[in-house]
Amino acid sequence: MKKTIAMLLVCALMLMGCAMAEKLTMGSSCDFPPYEYYDDETGEIVGIDVEIAYAVAEKLGCELEIQDMQFDSIIAAVCSGKVDFGMSGFTVTEERKQNVDFSTPYTTAKQSVLVPAETSITSVDDLFNPDNEFKIGVQIGTTGDLYITSDVEANGLKHSVERYNKYGDAVMALLSGKIDCMIVDDQVAVSFAEANEGLALLDTAYALEEYAICFAKESPLYDSFNAALEELIADGTVQSIIDKYIAA
Ligand code: ARG
Repeated sequence: MKKTIAMLLVCALMLMGCAMAEKLTMGSSCDFPPYEYYDDETGEIVGIDVEIAYAVAEKLGCELEIQDMQFDSIIAAVCSGKVDFGMSGFTVTEERKQNVDFSTPYTTAKQSVLVPAETSITSVDDLFNPDNEFKIGVQIGTTGDLYITSDVEANGLKHSVERYNKYGDAVMALLSGKIDCMIVDDQVAVSFAEANEGLALLDTAYALEEYAICFAKESPLYDSFNAALEELIADGTVQSIIDKYIAA
């Protein structure tokens, strides 16, 4: 009996998830390998976040549509209901929590520093040396942007922060010497360094963080979506998706 009730509850929750929208729309900035990016061969949007989102949608019996948008417009799109959720390697921050609700975190990451192979920057400390003056590239509105901007201000540093809409443009700027380094999430930095000869990753991390999915406050989708995500974390699906993209 207890089992039947539990099953009914699960079904009810799933139906509620999908009653909201036959199709779930996900807002994402698809410039962020290995989490969300365009597959060179198929042209399709793929990656860790994408596969996790499809797995959740499947559990909820919904279709999934991904809307590729600028990273710093995703939270507004989530809040206004233009998309049902935002999944884009989103770091959980207290500031963002004022505007959106975050799911259970599904992985961790570090902010790291990507540099050209020939560089005078050898450690994160070099960024904090008040004698140094660098052009530091970030994606607008990311934690990389927020951290370095406030560190520059708080420590009276001479660097200029160059803000890009898409990471691809920051990587081009780094390759052509327009900027001296980039602050970006570690696995993404690894992907960019692998895809572009002449880029390297400093081996000290800049900040530790957790990734989660964001929803509008009081979103009716939240409970069912998060329950499905938690199941996928608990049964190892999320880890196996991560392992598929990131070598141990
Ligand atoms: N983790 C960082 C943040 O939340 C960067 C995320 C950037 N994501 C992207 N798909 N471009 O601010």
